[in-house]
Amino acid sequence: MARRRLVAGNWKMHLTVPEGLSLVESILPAVEKRTDIDVVVCPSFPLLCHVYMALKKSPLKLGAQDVFWEEKGAFTGQVSAAMLCDAGCTYCIVGHSERRGRFDSCSYPKEVLHYFSESDATVNLKLRRLLYSNLKPILCVGETFEEREKGMTEKVIKKQLSRGLKGIDAIELLDMAIAYEPVWAIGTGNVCDGNEAARVCSLIRSFLSKILSREASESIRVLYGGSVTGSNCQEFFSQKEIDGALVGGASLNAEEFSRIIRAA
Ligand code: PGA
Repeated sequence: MARRRLVAGNWKMHLTVPEGLSLVESILPAVEKRTDIDVVVCPSFPLLCHVYMALKKSPLKLGAQDVFWEEKGAFTGQVSAAMLCDAGCTYCIVGHSERRGRFDSCSYPKEVLHYFSESDATVNLKLRRLLYSNLKPILCVGETFEEREKGMTEKVIKKQLSRGLKGIDAIELLDMAIAYEPVWAIGTGNVCDGNEAARVCSLIRSFLSKILSREASESIRVLYGGSVTGSNCQEFFSQKEIDGALVGGASLNAEEFSRIIRAA
């Protein structure tokens, strides 16, 4: 089944409003030439409305980096799905390893690390809210270096998927994307080998086919993320198991991100 490719830029906690707007302006020419793929940028919350104004007449789509699962209420500091829709979002990242507190190297003490407390249970609640609100989730899964060394990659990913997707109707998941993001490859420059990324992406799809309907498991896009750049992206895009990329650092640079969009 031919799936439409997806390239998403995760801006993380970078860029002010003027910087974000200038980046959007510089990548638009590349985006406008690729109406055959989906391109999304995921700025931080305060930038969303501003960036939406700059891209709303273009094929470039807007995504958020996180969401809270309740509809509304006394939840200081949280952002609801309705607010994201209002701001112009159509996508939302969920379960990123940096929200799960799974960092490759981190000097924070345990009490502080606890702040990044995303779990498979909260991922499940967030996914339900996003799907109910017609926002397309980009669900991140992936193993740490230690887990890989212990041969636990498959087990970790299956656990993240089965718990994260637990009880969700397959029919709702058709528009979802899953990003395989090995924690050790994120922001480190230690990019995963293309064949290995393809092997894990294919594992993800075969696991999906066991827990979801055939239609859902075939239509969900499986992306690779972790130190993707303009120079190495072809290694991933040439693999038939990989339907696109979730890009962090390189999405902040207009030339790099445009190269990735052109190559997808
Ligand atoms: P990176 O980040 O491209 O900077 O490694 C990817 C991600 O965290 O989504």
